[in-house]
Amino acid sequence: MAVGTKNAENGPRPLGVGVVGLGWMGRLHASSYRGLAARYPELGLAPRLVCAADPLPDNQRAARAQFGFERAVDDVGEMLADPEVDVVSIATPNFLHREVARAAARAGRPFWIEKPMGVDAAQSREIHEAARVAGVATAVGFNYRHAPAVEHLRALVAAGRLGRITNVRCWLYADYASSPDGPLTWRYDRSRAGAGVIGDLLSHGADLVHYVTGQGIAEVSAATDVFLRERPIPTSAGVGHGAVEVGTERGAVGNEDWVAALATLADGTRATLESSRVARGHRSDYALEVYGTEGSARWSFTRMNEFEVMIGDGGLEHGYTTVLAGAGHGDYGRFQPGPGIPMSFDDLKAIECAQFLTDVVGGIGGVDDGARSGAAPNTADGLSAAEVTEAIVRSASSRSWVDVPQVEGTTWGA
Ligand SMILES: NC(=O)c1ccc[n+]([C@@H]2O[C@H](COP(=O)([O-])OP(=O)(O)OC[C@H]3O[C@@H](n4cnc5c(N)ncnc54)[C@H](O)[C@@H]3O)[C@@H](O)[C@H]2O)c1
Repeated sequence: MAVGTKNAENGPRPLGVGVVGLGWMGRLHASSYRGLAARYPELGLAPRLVCAADPLPDNQRAARAQFGFERAVDDVGEMLADPEVDVVSIATPNFLHREVARAAARAGRPFWIEKPMGVDAAQSREIHEAARVAGVATAVGFNYRHAPAVEHLRALVAAGRLGRITNVRCWLYADYASSPDGPLTWRYDRSRAGAGVIGDLLSHGADLVHYVTGQGIAEVSAATDVFLRERPIPTSAGVGHGAVEVGTERGAVGNEDWVAALATLADGTRATLESSRVARGHRSDYALEVYGTEGSARWSFTRMNEFEVMIGDGGLEHGYTTVLAGAGHGDYGRFQPGPGIPMSFDDLKAIECAQFLTDVVGGIGGVDDGARSGAAPNTADGLSAAEVTEAIVRSASSRSWVDVPQVEGTTWGA
């Protein structure tokens, strides 16, 4: 049976999963696949964790013992040679994405890849092209767009409830890198991570702006900086941003700590985007505000399960109403039976997993199950965000406005 063919008569169909990179994101991908059948039974799929690929013995042990993978290997090639692996998750450090994605596409495997897709626009273009030529379904880790409140902001904009959209404001402030004694991991190396906080966090912001407005960012004028120029070199490996051991030797930070950009969207809407990884006190403060001629709405990840909205003239009660997420907002009803009960970050990844596998089952562009408006964020979306990142880097270095190439085939366009 071809990948993604449902077999309703014989019950949920096992779908073999391979996960490359068993750090923070790889583990979350694994648990998202495991939980799929409970949240999205109509997909008729029972993901089976067939193989994990990670060079670290501890991660291989964790893959088998904690996450239930049938086997764990060092080498991605060995994983892709396994006919039992139907789909692949790519959750390695950024510089390995291109090689693994191209190998997965060549092997005809749909893939779910973390952001930023490549370390730069050229690599992201290669990944997108490889998927397009192979005709495989893809998903990219733009999880914040799946928050039910963000889905509702998009619905408000699409229905014209805010009037003509005039401007958008998005910022992503975090302090995961705010200690000068934080280790100089791959994230601070341009060749292995790409453009610092621009690829790491602002790419999520570009996707949020694209997704909620349905418009591409068409030009940018930006400034960037590195505030903490040296960090200690690590002497061990860790998971995500977690603690690793460091030595006394220090090395130079090779990519951006901070970025601020003015932008114009394709239809002339104005936007501002800003991001920092060294903003002490902001743990993971990601916010989106949309302003129109009839009203405005805003969302913040620190209060992920609510949004604020103001439409029309409220008379003496003019001001924002806070709305708690509930049934009818995105996929909320899949996770909680009643309004106001919080969903988690991990649930956003569960939604992304379901969108990816919906596209795998239904072919690229996927089945609309009525609970959402489109397919999983795809490699065209990943490339669009990468083009924004690249234009920002060029603008900051040339101190001028830079055009952003528009990409065909995004999930938010048209
Ligand atoms: N979507 C999100 O919100 C989000 C959040 C965090 C990270 N990310 C992205 O996820 C990716 C991974 O980040 P992370 O925080 O999980 O990093 P991490 O350091 O926790 O994990 C990376 C893993 O890749 C493994 N690895 C290294 N070389 C490998 C190889 N050759 N083959 C297979 N595995 C290899 C490492 O051993 C490690 O387990 C990055 O692209 C990052 O930008 C996305």
